[in-house]
Amino acid sequence: MRIAMIGTGYVGLVSGICFSDFGHDVVCVDKDPAKIEQLNAGHVPIFEPGLEALMTKNVAAGRLSFTLDLASAMKGADAVFIAVGTPTRRGDGHADLRYVYAAAEEVAHLIEDYTVVVTKSTVPVGTNRQVKQIIRKANKAALFDVASNPEFLREGAAIDDFMRPDRVVVGVQNERAADVMAEIYRPLFLRDFPIVTTDLESAEMIKYAANAFLATKITFINEIAALCEKVGADVKEVSKGMGLDGRIGNRFLHAGPGYGGSCFPKDTKALARIGQEHAVPMQITETVIKVNEEIKRGMIEKLLTLCDGSFNGKTIAVLGVTFKPNTDDMRDAPSLTIVPALVGAGAKVIVTDPQGNHEGETLLPGVVWAEDAYKAVQKADLCVLLTEWNEFRALDLNRIARRMNTPRFADLRNVYSEKDLKRAGFESYAFVGR
Ligand code: UDX
Repeated sequence: MRIAMIGTGYVGLVSGICFSDFGHDVVCVDKDPAKIEQLNAGHVPIFEPGLEALMTKNVAAGRLSFTLDLASAMKGADAVFIAVGTPTRRGDGHADLRYVYAAAEEVAHLIEDYTVVVTKSTVPVGTNRQVKQIIRKANKAALFDVASNPEFLREGAAIDDFMRPDRVVVGVQNERAADVMAEIYRPLFLRDFPIVTTDLESAEMIKYAANAFLATKITFINEIAALCEKVGADVKEVSKGMGLDGRIGNRFLHAGPGYGGSCFPKDTKALARIGQEHAVPMQITETVIKVNEEIKRGMIEKLLTLCDGSFNGKTIAVLGVTFKPNTDDMRDAPSLTIVPALVGAGAKVIVTDPQGNHEGETLLPGVVWAEDAYKAVQKADLCVLLTEWNEFRALDLNRIARRMNTPRFADLRNVYSEKDLKRAGFESYAFVGR
């Protein structure tokens, strides 16, 4: 199969590179000359474990290339994937579809033989029909079908998620498009990964429903965690006991400082908007959005208690600012709510993160960056574990405590036990839900 991939953002790049690894001929297109230049020089502009090596392998095999020129990328393509951004529109919470529609319009003029135009970006229900109309209007003679193919990959585990998915979701309107999609994903079917082939609208809906459900699951356990603290229960035990019920499942039941990232915040807001538009308010999702904000702000209260009611003049070390480990992504990270509140209340904040300083230096003004956890905690009054990077999971706690001015520890990811912290000499500490 020959594939053109429009957009070399997170989803586009991972999908393009993985498709080429399946053996397809893939040309990735982007409008940003700097990005294409970087990719052609063998560098991946995002941080994703294993991605650069996989890219290099497939470029060397002659199956993968990068260009600014959509026309050449679409020459002879069986399918063209639209994987451009759909950010939350300022003001109304809608997904901004400007880039998707612009791509559809450009594609329309370049279709020669039968082509399946696939939307990989997360788009509201009805967008694929809209894409179809845009193409038809722009090019009455075009021989094409549209397909919806939402992506479920997680940052930091993207390659594995793509190569070993729980399922592939494909929305189509006819057999011909279904056959092209089946051919593209054949290497996965051969390994028995299930494909859900459905209509366009259901495919679009699956993505929003799945992400909103997962955000709900996390927020549910975060709310339970807050109650556990009051009644003397331990949320880790509660999650374990709940998660062993096969109907519930143990994943995404880890209490923490609130969800962040590029998908959950954006998709829950978009789903809430879609519901409002159709006069079916998504009340649970709307509540989840609200509660998640409260959970993030609640972390500030927790830290304030550890700081005896005032941040003013305190030195606070923050370990990890990306929204989760193994990514340099800080979109909607809890750190963006928590760190500015500390700085604003007069604390000196020292931050360390294996990747977050790329973006963090502009997103978190007024903080000092340290090379590692041990340097960050020097003379600090409080150490906050905010993102559970592996290197923060096995800290030498004695060494941390010794370097601090007052050894206090807020473990917002529940990595350590009370015993660990006590033994290391921390005089006070806090967890989430314990
Ligand atoms: C998510 C979905 O998992 C993926 O299917 C979709 O395509 C995109 O959005 P991602 O945002 O990369 O992926 O990260 P994920 O690992 O799902 O974590 C999302 C957020 O939830 C993070 O802030 C994480 O810290 C938080 N989380 C996750 C918890 O607080 N507790 C959990 O148990 C799981």
